[in-house]
Parts: sequence; C-alpha cells; structure tokens
Amino acid sequence: MKICISADHGGFDLKKIIIDHVKSLGFEIDDLGEKEIDLSDDYPDTTKLVAEAISSKTYEKGIVLCGSGVGASVVANKFKDVRAAICHDTYSAAQGVEHDDMNVICLGGRIVGEALAKEIVSEFLGSRFISEDRFIRRKEKLDQIEKENLL
Ligand code: RB5
Repeated sequence: MKICISADHGGFDLKKIIIDHVKSLGFEIDDLGEKEIDLSDDYPDTTKLVAEAISSKTYEKGIVLCGSGVGASVVANKFKDVRAAICHDTYSAAQGVEHDDMNVICLGGRIVGEALAKEIVSEFLGSRFISEDRFIRRKEKLDQIEKENLL
C-alpha cells in the first residue's frame, strides 16, 4: 500500500514521528511536504499535496497534519474521491475506514500526543473497508452527493 503524508508548521514535529512509526510498521511512506519547518506555511497548500495525490489515486491512503486537524480536513474534503476526517481516537480511525472508506486521516499536532497518534495511525493503516451492502449503499450516496456538488 502506498501512503503519503504532509503537514504545515502546526503538525510538522508530529509528522516526523508518524513517518518513523509508519516505516516501523513495514509500510512505505512518501513525505510530499516540506522537509524543514516553515513557520509561515499555510495548511491549504500543505494539505493539497496529499489530497491531490489521493484524488489522482497515486496513493491509497494519506495522512495530513496541521495544528488542530480542522483546516486539513476541510481542505482535503474539497477533492474528488477524498474521504477525510479528523480522528483523535482509535475507534474512529478504524471505523472510518471500515464503514466509510476514509482514505485520508487528519491529525492535530497540537492536540494529540505522540503515543496516541501512533496508535491512531496504526488503526487507520491496519483497517480495510468492509464490503457489506449497507456500507456500499452509503458510499454510493456519498459519491452521488459529490457528483452533484463538487464542480
Ligand atoms: C496554524 O497555526 C494553524 O492555524 C493550523 O495549523 C491549523 O490548526 C488550522 O486548522
């Protein structure tokens, strides 16, 4: 599975920790963002890098970080076929993939600590969409809403 990540300055320190963690789980991860912290960067620019890569299906799952996770999730969901959410608990990180086929997880570098963030990411990467009728039906409705509302 191909995974990508990016962060603004608010999530930069946690991003480095998450990259090491993802590698330790045996996954490959590409950092599409800045390699040095830039205190003047803006989350729409950093999030866009991952959102575009997921939308184009270059990567299967993405991780985006900002200070709260809010800005990153707002931006990511503007992109076609991106299903992003802030998950600051492990249950949502797993269920978001299993039920909703979430393909981008958003984390707040100022909200979650290192240990919890690692567990959340483990759940996100270790979970798979469950192909039950009710989940497929809801995803089709989501696709329809996207078609009607995203230009
Ligand atoms: C940047 O200081 C901060 O506003 C941003 O990272 C994020 O929290 C926005 O949602």
